[in-house]
Amino acid sequence: MATYDHSFAIILGKNERKMNKPLAYDVLIIGSGSAGLSVALNLAKDLKVAVVCKSEIQEGSTFYAQGGIAAVLDDKDSIESHIQDTLTAGAGLCHEDAVRFTVTNSAQAIKWLLDIGVSFDKRISASGKNELHLTREGGHAERRIAHAADATGKAVSEALIEQLGKHDNIHIMPQRVAVDIIRNRERCTGCYLLNTETNVVETINAKMVVLATGGASKAYLFTSNPDGATGDGIALAWRAGCRVGNMEFNQFHPTTLFHPSVKSFLITEAVRGEGGKLLLPSGERFMHRFDEREELAPRDIVARAIDHEMKRLGADCLFLDISHKDPEFIQSHFPTISKRCLELGIDISKQPIPVVPAAHYTCGGIVVDRFGRTDLAGLYAVGETTFTGLHGANRLASNSLLECIVYGTSAARHINSTIGSISQPSNAPNWDESQVTNSDEDVVISHNWDELRRFMWDYVGIVRSDKRLKRALNRVTLLRNEIGEYYSNYKISNDLLELRNLALVSELIIRCALKRKESRGLHSNIDYPDLAARPKDSILTPGSV
Ligand code: FAD
Ligand code: SIN
Repeated sequence: MATYDHSFAIILGKNERKMNKPLAYDVLIIGSGSAGLSVALNLAKDLKVAVVCKSEIQEGSTFYAQGGIAAVLDDKDSIESHIQDTLTAGAGLCHEDAVRFTVTNSAQAIKWLLDIGVSFDKRISASGKNELHLTREGGHAERRIAHAADATGKAVSEALIEQLGKHDNIHIMPQRVAVDIIRNRERCTGCYLLNTETNVVETINAKMVVLATGGASKAYLFTSNPDGATGDGIALAWRAGCRVGNMEFNQFHPTTLFHPSVKSFLITEAVRGEGGKLLLPSGERFMHRFDEREELAPRDIVARAIDHEMKRLGADCLFLDISHKDPEFIQSHFPTISKRCLELGIDISKQPIPVVPAAHYTCGGIVVDRFGRTDLAGLYAVGETTFTGLHGANRLASNSLLECIVYGTSAARHINSTIGSISQPSNAPNWDESQVTNSDEDVVISHNWDELRRFMWDYVGIVRSDKRLKRALNRVTLLRNEIGEYYSNYKISNDLLELRNLALVSELIIRCALKRKESRGLHSNIDYPDLAARPKDSILTPGSV
């Protein structure tokens, strides 16, 4: 295992160093979602840039985003109103400067996306103007969500990827899994990447490295996220000596499809925004018993209400019904959901959709400033992997893609203005796997994956208690020891790297959850049902836990 000698650079363990020609870049971006590509496309064109990603370039949460991007775009709306809604959802923990910074830049972010060709839905206004169609989601006082039907992420992702063709300075390297950051005493100098096609670990030296690796919702058994959401960036940054914060705030989306043959499929909040009603198996509505905003209450409230009713009734799922709307309206607003459900025998224009809550978004992450700078010089982080202070104890719907674009642009500008004074780092030692062998018991990896995600779901889920959290801490400690031993003795693979990262990130989630002696936003602990008098972030520092 790579460990850090705090007096100098890294000490390489026996699983590292192998002959392999190092590559050198000005900027290495790890992640090709909306955050990583916003950085890449805003970097100066004379910089030599590499963008790496685990599998295919479009694969990541960005591509699957449905509802849209929140922004102040309507004359009736205001920056103050969007700020207020974000602060309210964040339950007292948002950093107002981060919220103001993001919201103030929201219209510019949408303009940039339009300029690069994102095909947001349009409508003709009462006065005959061709303008963006804005939808509504929980916690928003106004219609302010720009969207491309119910497949906004696909539209954004495809437009960003197409732009890459106009930037000869950007080198795309798919099928690379970042293993660990390389650093010297002062700064980050590169990263080791596992090439999953050749199984060789490549050494990349870079003046600046940007982590844009997305969230960690795969820590939970049920999630809306694609497979790669294993919190790798958070784990890499932590091992490189950076602080992480507010990891206990795991957002559970109230409505993912419940179907035996579907692993993760979201039913966008916009379905509720456009009039969808939540129903018990008996057909009775229930949200009015939990919040006067009913289906449009913030996500934490709706997810907890569904969880409560499912447990009370012993039900496998509840239902979301939009069938009272005109079939044409449903088809034009929700074509992706209609099609997917119909393939599974559910006609959403005629019947309610079976739904369950699932882990959806990681509100905490690597502590960064407004420019995406982490605690380690030369290491930036952007997007869902970060803790910027925007989301507080609960993210407002559709503020995530916005954060990716706003902070991605800001990080790129900062890099452009400072990289001139940084010299190319000297070559890092190559990875050495001379003392490790091929594993003959991969079952350890698959067993630990299942165990981890099961106890995170059962003990660190929507409703927590200290007893459950302590149980989870005991188990994660055992798992991390076993995984550490395995990592030291066997050749690495994507599954092993992801498991190692997910186990570390799970421990960080549990430790943050144990620190919080209150219930706030997404963190609900039956031993501390009330709010603490003074809201406080949970910040963890490497070496101190
Ligand atoms: P991602 O888009 O997840 O990209 C991560 C990238 O990092 C990928 O390229 C991946 O390959 C790469 N990567 C990860 N680890 C490594 C590694 N070790 N080595 C190399 N590469 C690595 N938000 C909204 O604002 N509006 C919405 O409507 C919305 N809908 C959503 C619907 C779904 C189903 C989901 C899952 C999320 C939704 N979200 C939405 C949240 C939002 O999509 C994400 O928070 C956002 O896309 C994250 O972008 P990102 O660039 O940070 O990460
Ligand atoms: C959704 O479409 O419901 C997801 C929106 C989000 O996660 O912000």
